[in-house]
Amino acid sequence: MLDQAQIQLLSDAALTALKNAHAPYSGFAVGAALLDSQGKIYSGCNIENASLGLSVCAERTAIFKAVSEGARSFLGIAIATRASELTPPCGACRQVLREFASDLAVVLVNHNGDTEQHSLSELMPFAFTDFREKEK
Ligand code: THU
Repeated sequence: MLDQAQIQLLSDAALTALKNAHAPYSGFAVGAALLDSQGKIYSGCNIENASLGLSVCAERTAIFKAVSEGARSFLGIAIATRASELTPPCGACRQVLREFASDLAVVLVNHNGDTEQHSLSELMPFAFTDFREKEK
């Protein structure tokens, strides 16, 4: 679980990333900020495409940026939207996050500064994981 200072830092970064969202089709901007175990923050936004199925969520933008820069161990992610109802990550993003973190703090934040902290294991119980172990 993240402490209050980490929650504040990540929430601010996610709210900043939200401003870069490319969401002309849905009009639903999302920002994400991922904290790695070195204390580094990787942010991302949703990036939609005229070919709608090619759109990518903010959380996956953030984790793909992080992994492609060598980060492998993560403490938490904040997810920000402008909706007053807090927005949990979609199932596809939960699965991608689970690949690199068996447990991860998931902070939901909105523009009013409301936050809520969950864990990935709570949001994604009984996850599909490394299949190489299953055939042994
Ligand atoms: N979206 C995210 O960025 N993250 C999620 O976890 C859920 C949905 C984006 C995808 C699309 O650009 C917009 O929100 C509406 O679905």
